[in-house]
Amino acid sequence: MPGYTLKIRRFDPQSGEAAYWDEHAIEMRAHNSVLDAILELRDEHDGSIGIRCSCQQGICGSCGVRINGKPGLACNTHLEAAARRVYGPASAGDSGADAGEAGRPVIAVEPMGNMPVIRDLIVDMDAVHWKKIQRVTPWLIGKQPVPEREYVVPHENMVDVTQTMACIQCGACVSDCLSMEVDPLFIGPAALAKAYRFVGDPRDAEQHERLLDLSEDEHGIYDCTHCFSCIDACPKGVDPMGQIMRLRRIAGSDQEIEDRNNGSRHEHAFVKNIRRNGLLHEADLVPDSYGGKLHPRAVPELLSSLPTVAVGLARGKITPGKALRHQHKAPKELKRIFDEIEGRSERIELNLYVSGYEDEPATRSEGEAP
Ligand code: SF4
Ligand code: SF4
Ligand code: FES
Repeated sequence: MPGYTLKIRRFDPQSGEAAYWDEHAIEMRAHNSVLDAILELRDEHDGSIGIRCSCQQGICGSCGVRINGKPGLACNTHLEAAARRVYGPASAGDSGADAGEAGRPVIAVEPMGNMPVIRDLIVDMDAVHWKKIQRVTPWLIGKQPVPEREYVVPHENMVDVTQTMACIQCGACVSDCLSMEVDPLFIGPAALAKAYRFVGDPRDAEQHERLLDLSEDEHGIYDCTHCFSCIDACPKGVDPMGQIMRLRRIAGSDQEIEDRNNGSRHEHAFVKNIRRNGLLHEADLVPDSYGGKLHPRAVPELLSSLPTVAVGLARGKITPGKALRHQHKAPKELKRIFDEIEGRSERIELNLYVSGYEDEPATRSEGEAP
């Protein structure tokens, strides 16, 4: 049986002691899960190891941890796959993940990020994750009058929200959200994906109110920085960032909600910038986001960005020439693509998550019996 070095991050906030790595040599099959290894250690060697789990089948979402720096479910991560993971930046310099005994692959397991640790691998989901889920009114507000029979939802609408319904509330996306690290008040990927579940449901009576609320909140949909981490982290393919972008498109483009945070205008400024220049010309971004260089709203923003510009100039990251003149001009082909997309009467949303009907006849290959 292959051998591994399993390192578990231990921490008891009540003890007053600092966190430390608890290291064990284990012999288990490569297809055993990381959770199997932790539970065996707990049962056979140290009953004080703190880990939360239930279904052990990737369904309940309770065993979220960081494995070699990346968030995931301990119960559906095989030891061999965990050992192949290159240690991420989560605890760089402090992981010990490169120090396996006698060449054994190291698997370092830590609690998820962005949430306070209760003990060892158990984090306080109530304090962060569930609080944020509650923030987005996570239930359907039915349209009136209530039909005598059931509401009938068109198939394509159901397909559209099914992806968010696959969420098992494990918190892995929250753990890795870079915006939440900077702004702990950010509503965050899991809760915003949940918000789309109801915004995209034609039975909900408050689509506009929900979008207005999430746009106007300075920790809402425009607080996401497109870092893609939540997409990588999610074990269920929910694509939280994609759901946030959908909320933005419906709020900003379809419902023309101009939020007080300038989020929608900032997003449109990117589009305008690329349409004009082909490549992003950062110097235009701030004025474009605030209505143009001479717009009263743009002036204080431009002044407040001067220290950043000064640092860039001092460090040679930008030159006055590059800052003021953009050499690149958008090619005609790019403008044609913009014209074509913007000229469409209806926006086309690609949703590749689920397609087809369950009762669709299977495609037969040539020569196959009917
Ligand atoms: S894409 Fe947005 S929501 Fe997702 S992890 Fe990054 S900042 Fe957070
Ligand atoms: S969106 Fe994915 S990663 Fe986030 S809580 Fe739901 S299942 Fe977990
Ligand atoms: S124990 Fe339920 S998802 Fe892992």
